[in-house]
Amino acid sequence: MSQPVDPTTTPAWARLTTLYGSLEPDLRGWFAADQSRAKSFTFSAGDLYVDLSKNLINADILSTLVDLADQVGLVARRDAMFAGEHINVTEDRAVLHAALRAPEGSSLVVDGVDVIPEVHQVLAKVYAFADKVRSGEWVGVTGKPITTVVNIGIGGSDLGPVMVYEALQPYVKPGLKARFVSNIDPTDVAEKTKDLDPEATLFIVASKTFTTLETLTNARLARSWLLDKLRESGAIEAGDDPAGAAVAKHFVAVSTALDKVAAFGIDPENAFGFWDWVGGRYSVDSAIGTSVAVAIGPANFADFLAGFHAIDRHFAETELASNVPALMGMLNVWYRNFFNAGSHAVLPYAQFLHRFPAYLQQLTMESNGKSVRYDGSPVTTETGEVFWGEPGTNGQHAFYQLIHQGTQLIPCDFIGVANPAYPLVDGDNDVHELFLANFFAQTAALAFGKTADEVRAEGTPDAIVPARVFSGNRPTTSIMVPELSPRVVGELIALYEHITFTEGVVWGIDSFDQWGVELGKQLALQIAPAVSGDDEALAKQDSSTQALINYYRAQRR
Ligand code: F6P
Repeated sequence: MSQPVDPTTTPAWARLTTLYGSLEPDLRGWFAADQSRAKSFTFSAGDLYVDLSKNLINADILSTLVDLADQVGLVARRDAMFAGEHINVTEDRAVLHAALRAPEGSSLVVDGVDVIPEVHQVLAKVYAFADKVRSGEWVGVTGKPITTVVNIGIGGSDLGPVMVYEALQPYVKPGLKARFVSNIDPTDVAEKTKDLDPEATLFIVASKTFTTLETLTNARLARSWLLDKLRESGAIEAGDDPAGAAVAKHFVAVSTALDKVAAFGIDPENAFGFWDWVGGRYSVDSAIGTSVAVAIGPANFADFLAGFHAIDRHFAETELASNVPALMGMLNVWYRNFFNAGSHAVLPYAQFLHRFPAYLQQLTMESNGKSVRYDGSPVTTETGEVFWGEPGTNGQHAFYQLIHQGTQLIPCDFIGVANPAYPLVDGDNDVHELFLANFFAQTAALAFGKTADEVRAEGTPDAIVPARVFSGNRPTTSIMVPELSPRVVGELIALYEHITFTEGVVWGIDSFDQWGVELGKQLALQIAPAVSGDDEALAKQDSSTQALINYYRAQRR
C-alpha cells in the first residue's frame, strides 16, 4: 500500500501559503483589468459548462493548485481507482463505481474477474424487469398492473434514487409513480402507503448489506401493510403464507447479500445484485437505481449511465490543468485549507434538483468527514466541509443574507439550466429567464458587491450606509447545462463524485469507508431495550440518557 503524501510538506503547499498571504481579493479589479478572465477560467466537461472565474484565484494560484494535485499523487491514485486496486483500504475493497457505467464490450479485470460483463448482465435483468412493470405485464397478486413502486432503503440506497427520480420528473412514465421510504420513524412508511392501492403497489427493498435496521424494519412493516390490506379486502385468503404469492408479486430486492434477501422471503429470481466494490453513496447507477429505471425506462436509464461515463472519461483522460472535477476539488481544498471555509453551498437553479444538496451531503460528508488518513495516521489539515443548499430563489429569501454579508466565507456552486421543462410566460416575461436572471445577479452581487460610495450615491443616509455595503469577493462557481436530461444528471453526479475523490486524495484519507456511522447504530441497539421498559438496561445508561428515557416512558400514551 502506498503511503499518503502529507500535502503540507509539498513545495506547492508552501507556495500556496505565500500566495494566500499576499492575496488581496479584488474580483472587480481583476475582471476590469483582464477582459479575458471569464474565458481563461471557463472549462467544459461533457455537457457541463463550468465558469470558475468568480473564484478567488489568479492563473498562478490555479496552476499551483494543479501542482499540489500533482505532488500529492492525484493521477496515480485516480488511475489506481479506475484500475480496480483496493484503494478502500480499511474495508480492503476496490472502488469501482466507474465500472457500473462502462460500456458493454469494455473490460475491467478486478481480483481476477472481468466485472463489466457482470455489470451488464445485472443491467439487462433490471431493464427486463422495468419493461415488464412499465408495460403492465408484471401484475400484482390480483392481476392489476403496478401503478406505484415504493423504494425502501436509506442513505445511498435512498438518497440517489429519490434525487434522480425528482430530477427527471418529465421522463417519468405517466400513470406510474415512485415513492421512497427511508426513515425508521414509523410515520414515513405509514404516510407513504396510506393512500396506495396494495393490489397495484410494488415494493423494492434496496439495501447493499440487507442488514440495515431501518430498511429491514420498514420492509417488514410494508409486508404487514400489504398482507393486512389484501386480506381485509378479501383479495387473499386469511392465513395465506406471507412468503407466498402476494410477497412474490409485490416485493423485489436489490442487494449484494442475495442469501439474506431469500431469508426475508423474496424470491432470489426477483433480486438484483451488485458488488462490494460499489459504495452505498456511489450506487444510484447500480441496481440500487431500479426504482428510477422503472420510472424513466431503460433507454433513459442508459443515457443517465452514459452521462456518468462521459465525466469518468474526462476525469481519467484530461490533463489536470483543464480537468474540471480535479480543478473544482482543488478549489475546495484552497477554500477549506487556506481560507478555513467550513461549509460549501450548492445552489441549483432548477426546482427538479431540489434533493441534489441532500444527496451531496452523503456523498461528500460520509466520504470526507475523516480525521485519520488511510494509513491510520492523523490528518495534517482540516478535512471535509459541510455541504448544504436549497434550490433557486427560495434560498435567496432565507440564508443568502449570511452568504452576502456574514462574517464567514462560503464558497457556492450555482447550477443553471438553459432549457426549462416548463417554458411558461407571465405576460411578456419568460419566467425561466427571470429565474436565470436571479442566478446571474446573485453571482455578480457576491463577486462584485456594492461599495459605500455606491450606496451613498443612491441617497442612503450615512448612518445606514454600512449596513447596505456588500463586500463582494465572495467566491462562486457557475455550472450551466443545456437541459436537465438523464445524461446531464449523470454528468452532474459523476462531477461531484470526482470532486470528492480529489479532495480526499489531497487529505490522504480513505473516502470510501464510513466507520463514523457505526457507533450510533451499536448504541441504538443497546438502548432499545431500555426504551421498551427493561430497567436493567436503563440503569446502565448515563444520567442524561436515563432522564430522557424516563421522560419518554412517563409521557407515552
Ligand atoms: O450507515 C451508513 C450506510 O452504511 C451508508 O453508507 C449506506 O448508504 C446506508 O448505510 C445504507 O446501507 P445499506 O444499503 O446496506 O442498507
